[in-house]
Amino acid sequence: MVFRFWLISALVSGGSSQDGSCKAGEQCNGENTYGPNDVPKERPRNPHHLFPYDIFGEAAMPFLDEIMRTEITHVQQYCMFPPYPWSLVGYDNLISHDLLHSAPIEGSFAEFGVGEGGTSIYFARKAKMYGRKFLSVDSFAGLPKPTESDNQYFLEGDYGPPKGVDNHKAFLELVDRMDVNDTVTVVKGFFGDIAIPDDPAFEKFAFVHLDSDLYQSIYDSFMKIWDRVVPGGFVIVDDYFHFVQGPARAVTDFFRDHVGEPPVLFVLPVHAVLIVKGMSPCPKNAQAPVGKSSRPDWGEGATATRPAFTRALDGNFYSFQALRSIEALHRTVEVSVARVTAEYEERRQKGQPVHELERVRRNAESFLGFLRYPATAPQSSVDLYRYLASMEDVIDLQEAYDCRAGGRQTKNEINIDRDRSGPSNIVNAQPSEPLASE
Ligand SMILES: C[S@@+](CC[C@H](N)C(=O)[O-])C[C@H]1O[C@@H](n2cnc3c(N)ncnc32)[C@H](O)[C@@H]1O
Repeated sequence: MVFRFWLISALVSGGSSQDGSCKAGEQCNGENTYGPNDVPKERPRNPHHLFPYDIFGEAAMPFLDEIMRTEITHVQQYCMFPPYPWSLVGYDNLISHDLLHSAPIEGSFAEFGVGEGGTSIYFARKAKMYGRKFLSVDSFAGLPKPTESDNQYFLEGDYGPPKGVDNHKAFLELVDRMDVNDTVTVVKGFFGDIAIPDDPAFEKFAFVHLDSDLYQSIYDSFMKIWDRVVPGGFVIVDDYFHFVQGPARAVTDFFRDHVGEPPVLFVLPVHAVLIVKGMSPCPKNAQAPVGKSSRPDWGEGATATRPAFTRALDGNFYSFQALRSIEALHRTVEVSVARVTAEYEERRQKGQPVHELERVRRNAESFLGFLRYPATAPQSSVDLYRYLASMEDVIDLQEAYDCRAGGRQTKNEINIDRDRSGPSNIVNAQPSEPLASE
């Protein structure tokens, strides 16, 4: 009630405005005005060449070390956008600095959901560097039928091969060409049906990338690997923030059914989350509510019941620590902010409209501010939405708006064997050519 009274007073008394002549909530120059921080209504056509698109292509390269640059270039044409390049850079960062560095976590690496193969090859080469083995699992026939736990988006057979193409064979050849045939074991089949190979190397996993888009696929792959992931090991779930919502629901259900408490979700660009086995969102000494209070004790110390990670409005516990630790991402976004600012100023000086650039610039600046936000400063249950809002242009790219019954009619096919000599569709695509998206 107090809140509502405050809101009405604010509206009645009017608010400040950008130029002082327009009051918040009034008509001004034929348009409604809302306040000094209203969002410009104009948006550039997607995809475009500025933030966030410009951070996904070559832009990261100057800030990567030579090994990572070479390795990424190796697989670029076999990767989808995203996870390329930030998932590769981000996970590599985590593997090198956290997983294998001071107290190495034992176990092999794996990917469930190979797609065009680039991510598997990238991490297989990393595994080889550290003397680990790698398991790649895929139907090589595309997605199974979505279930009622998936929102309308994907079609059965999406990411399958075109007629007459054998992606399994093509992937085996790629493994050979990329010099990881002594490291990679490939299993062909649907996750619910396959068995993890009876090989001592695959009794334990340190790093598993789950990239399979659908509820049942993610749930089934968790069932296959979770017990083999060692404490401290990493499981990454791609497409967690995706219109399909199946992967997110699968994580919730799996952790409720088999772990007993929700995981801590480390957000990674754009829509992936990392789960560290054994990490709990709640302190071990959590206390039940005391006395007559129906509320938990929010004090710190031995009696604390406050979760160590802030709970978001969707009920999950997110951390942005892994995202914020990617130095190359900070540098790349700084360049992106400078780029959009320069274009904005140039247009303004020429008297050209700037509103759509204003919006892009704000998103770029917000994201940079989000990256720089200190871990020790207060966290909020809507931080996740701050992160997602700044990425709006790249999120809105996806085919979520198809109103036809059953959605999109044509399957997205992939052909690992195709001629890759033409221009890549990943790097800095021009507005006229849509990017390949997951
Ligand atoms: C988006 S693609 C993976 C992209 C790839 N990880 C990358 O980084 O480029 C999804 C893959 O998951 C596979 N897949 C999905 N559900 C599956 C299931 N239940 N069993 C086997 N493969 C599945 C599809 O065949 C497809 O190749």
